[in-house]
Amino acid sequence: MNKTTRSKLFQRQKAHRGNFLDDLAGLYRQEAKMPRREIVIKTEAQIEGIRKSCRLARDILDRITPDIRPGISTEQINQWVHDLTLAAGAVPAPLNYRGFPKSTCTSINEQICHGIPSPDIIVREGDILNVDVTTILDGYYGDTSRMFLIGEVPPEARRLVDVTRECLNLGIAQVKPGNTIGHIGHAIQEYAEGHGYSVVRAFVGHGTGLKFHEPPDVTHYGQPGQGAHLAPNMVFTIEPMINVGTYEARVLDDGWTTVTADGKLSAQWEHTVRVTADGVEVLTA
Ligand code: MF3
Ligand code: CO
Ligand code: CO
Repeated sequence: MNKTTRSKLFQRQKAHRGNFLDDLAGLYRQEAKMPRREIVIKTEAQIEGIRKSCRLARDILDRITPDIRPGISTEQINQWVHDLTLAAGAVPAPLNYRGFPKSTCTSINEQICHGIPSPDIIVREGDILNVDVTTILDGYYGDTSRMFLIGEVPPEARRLVDVTRECLNLGIAQVKPGNTIGHIGHAIQEYAEGHGYSVVRAFVGHGTGLKFHEPPDVTHYGQPGQGAHLAPNMVFTIEPMINVGTYEARVLDDGWTTVTADGKLSAQWEHTVRVTADGVEVLTA
């Protein structure tokens, strides 16, 4: 807890009670409830746990890949992810997360992210689909997503998917101690906009590992030098969402599924990474 926060809490307690020292327990109860703003540098033991969870999330995506073809529903994908996660002794992080009803996110075509799997959504030849898997294994989080091309996909959709994947790779290449979050975002934005695409602003990558979403925010746009400075054993995701048209987003009535405001295509790729002594380890590779 920083000095300002502490002094604010003391002042509030002073106002409510004559002697705030009588209620230190209350003070610490409030502290525990306060959102943690500091970036957690993970211990080696934590890194090892996060690494295992990340490998599991990656393996789950590998294992469902052969079955993702025209005619299946996104609910089937959800069931596969759910079953594979439980079979590995892990928990699917999305399930019941802030009320999310399913075990994975499946975002198709103009859907940017947080698509809710449904038996009514059948993937068809020509679709592009993101499947986002987050596992909790022994309390540690691993978060990764990929694009799937369903059968023959029009060249313009394939190009979006390829450029977005390269955006992720270019972002990862900026991860090393001394660089900032802005270095990552800048590399992604330059490449995406250089291809005539836009970078979604409404959602960002995030610290992860001990909780689903931790600080810092990892923006997929910006300038070198902006944002948090990277240091060894920070763990975060990079997950650029790149649109053919406007970057503006709308949330559907289900409260989750986020689509492009103009109905044009969107793509996303995500890895969880760790800052090493001199570069990066892609934990979900
Ligand atoms: N896995 C997503 C991410 O990359 C978050 C999904 S939150 C959910 O951050 F509730 F929709 F599952
Ligand atoms: Co994420
Ligand atoms: Co994710």
